[in-house]
Amino acid sequence: MGKSAENIAVLGLQWGDEGKGKLVDLLSANFSNVVRFQGGNNAGHTVVINGESIALHQVPSGAHHPGCFLVIGSGSVLDFDIFHEELESLRKRGIDILDRLLLSDKAHIILPYHIAIDKWREGGSIRIGTTGRGIGPTYEAKAARHGVRVGDIKTSGLLEKIVTLYKETSLILGNSASLPTPETVSEKLLELASPLLNCIGNVHEYLYDAWRQGKSILFEGAQATMLDIDHGTYPFVTSSNCTIGGLFTGTGLPPKALNKVIGVAKAYTTRVGAGPFPSELTDSICEHIRDVGHEYGTTTGRPRRCGWFDAAALRYACRVNGVDALGIMKLDVLDGLERIGIVTAYKSKDGKLLHTPPSSIQDWEGMEPVVDYFDGWSAPTKGAKSWSSLPSQAQKYLKGIEKTVETPIAYVSTGPDREEGLFV
Ligand code: IMP
Repeated sequence: MGKSAENIAVLGLQWGDEGKGKLVDLLSANFSNVVRFQGGNNAGHTVVINGESIALHQVPSGAHHPGCFLVIGSGSVLDFDIFHEELESLRKRGIDILDRLLLSDKAHIILPYHIAIDKWREGGSIRIGTTGRGIGPTYEAKAARHGVRVGDIKTSGLLEKIVTLYKETSLILGNSASLPTPETVSEKLLELASPLLNCIGNVHEYLYDAWRQGKSILFEGAQATMLDIDHGTYPFVTSSNCTIGGLFTGTGLPPKALNKVIGVAKAYTTRVGAGPFPSELTDSICEHIRDVGHEYGTTTGRPRRCGWFDAAALRYACRVNGVDALGIMKLDVLDGLERIGIVTAYKSKDGKLLHTPPSSIQDWEGMEPVVDYFDGWSAPTKGAKSWSSLPSQAQKYLKGIEKTVETPIAYVSTGPDREEGLFV
């Protein structure tokens, strides 16, 4: 197949872990470039290479397609320790990406101090249930204008910047925190970054030229709309803009450079960490979904909370991102259930009907879901490769999603393997 003529974004529409990796993986062979533009190693997806699965956190999908150039944009945060491990595990499988990798000199570096603060905060009164990877504090340092950027590695000012962060962290955590010295942190960083020096550069310029020359770009979102710092269920969110705006600030490309947005959602909903989840189930259906869908975090191994498909949240997410088409993942996980729910709206504690998620966390309290039930199906959808081979009840369910979300479905995944799924 030839390269795509369009630049496409793949974005998560729920609370993350929608299976974006599978779709990006399927699509990336047709693109010249795959770009991560926000988030860090809080993200995680598993790719299967020569029959072996490996978990990737920061390396963009498409690593195993030799024709794919991999870019990490300025909106991302990078942990060089973890990045080094990912490069090693790819190398062990015969994949070396150093000659097709560009790291933005403007991306921010996650330091041990950020991780220490993240963990300390999680021990306090407002527990977000973060991944503990230092993501929030790294973005905080960026906003406070004393973050350490990837480009600083190439300058003589690196140590001084690390010292500033060390001093501030010591003030917050006190003497009992056994923090590594700035010298140790700086030395380790320089050592880990030394093979990557030629990969550090100007992402805006590279992508602008690629766009103008018609070299296709696939933008790979991390986390998802309901975890977006502005548009998600604040404060139970991550610290970056996972929605469409983050793509532009996180690359330096203008909106005109993007042709289409594919929004990805599971056929049900999951969430890890604390925060509102109106369609959550706590009964045997939740157990079924968790067991069959292997709903445990790729990054932390935590069991995911599971619930019905939340069409009210999805419709909102489609509007925020301007989604052109949906990818619905893991339909097969619902095989064998007697009935399946779609949340179409919420009822507030004072009886008001809401068709869109509220802004304030207080307004989520006591919210009840309004659920439409669909018949389940007895014939399996697992492995289905065409619309016509889906049981009629599954087709009805998917049509129900399209109708309430007001967006067409372009792809349905019916199992973890590449071949298990269908383009509608
Ligand atoms: P942080 O991004 O580690 O600060 O975590 C903030 C919130 O986002 C927590 O609820 C995490 O569980 C959630 N989160 C962060 N990254 C992901 C992801 O890739 N998938 C699902 N949830 C995530």
